[in-house]
Amino acid sequence: MKIPFTRPYRTGNEQKYINDILTNIQNGAPISGDGPYGKKCEQLMEEKFGARKVLLTTSCTSALEMATRLINIQPGDEVIMPSFTFVSTANPVVMAGGRPVFVDIDPVTLNIDPAKIEEAITPRTKAIYPVHYAGVSCPMDEIMAIAKKYNVWVVEDAAQGVGAKYKGKYLGTIGDFGCYSFHETKNITCGEGGALVINRDDPDLIERAEIIREKGTDRSKFHRGQVDKYTWVDVGSSYVQSEILAAFLFAQLEAMDEINQKRMEIWYKYYTQLKPFEESGVIRLPVIPDYAEHNAHIFYVLFQEQSVRDTVMKQLQEAGIHAVFHYIPLHSSPMGQTFGCQDGDLPVTEETSGRLLRLPLFTGMSNDEENFILSRLKQVVEELRRNN
Ligand SMILES: Cc1ncc(COP(=O)(O)O)c(C=O)c1O
Repeated sequence: MKIPFTRPYRTGNEQKYINDILTNIQNGAPISGDGPYGKKCEQLMEEKFGARKVLLTTSCTSALEMATRLINIQPGDEVIMPSFTFVSTANPVVMAGGRPVFVDIDPVTLNIDPAKIEEAITPRTKAIYPVHYAGVSCPMDEIMAIAKKYNVWVVEDAAQGVGAKYKGKYLGTIGDFGCYSFHETKNITCGEGGALVINRDDPDLIERAEIIREKGTDRSKFHRGQVDKYTWVDVGSSYVQSEILAAFLFAQLEAMDEINQKRMEIWYKYYTQLKPFEESGVIRLPVIPDYAEHNAHIFYVLFQEQSVRDTVMKQLQEAGIHAVFHYIPLHSSPMGQTFGCQDGDLPVTEETSGRLLRLPLFTGMSNDEENFILSRLKQVVEELRRNN
């Protein structure tokens, strides 16, 4: 048996909605962005999440770039973020001339540690970018209190957190901005895609976001008939999502709860069957704090040390199971080191990165696939327990 790390799921309606566009092209149905399907996706998220404004984008990376531009990050500005994240959290800050300030994570949740955020605040701090790792919420009350105290912005990197909650509130709707990913690897997908959530009730901010998303022009106002021509009014880029992708995405968004529920069943099957090995001390399983309702985006196992993790990963891969690890901490990467960081700076991040293994987890995984992964992993872990 060969089990991929991820396999995109189809709800059955993607084809129907895309065909709808294709058959209506002659009648003027758009295939560029901001058409009826794009609007439906945005409206669905605004209503479901209780968000002030949602704008579909080409990716979460572009949503993070938009947020970074909206808060006017300038050369010399500092943005506090975890190092245990994907490069897209940091790249927009660097592109704007700012400096990412990497801080350590909490060893229990693997999310940014609020105490470390406060230690890293300086007069140059402009924003905090918390990342909801694995779709498990960061402690947002504490982060928002720090942001208020020092008057800095909060941009939630909720790439992995679509449909997950913090104290009953959807991730992405708590900070000033939230950024979602609909990449192929995510719970809800259209191949490549994302969304920016704007939570401040500020019409000027929303209008500027539309301008930045439309290459720096006021084309959105022109489409609404609010101006009779459109022109270049700000610095922007091409961040609007194509209508064809939005049609695919709409089918997935409509099925969000069902998709997340299916993933949750696999997640808990892994959790309950591996729990006895956690009790015997050979592995550690994810911890979901009381304040978080997660979305089963990632299932990871922490081993006692990197050499063990590497051996287990190799054994699973030899058995045809594509288990993987991430992240190479950003602060110790070649690019991260250009910001004056080095190995040893963030011990929890570094040792977590060496011990973590992600198991395949995707909607539509068969019982046979789940059982095969579990039986092979249990066998390997049982050997570890005996040799312990
Ligand atoms: C934490 C985090 N931020 C940002 C991204 C970037 O998302 P996208 O591929 O939609 O640009 C990812 C994607 O894996 C991610 O995991």
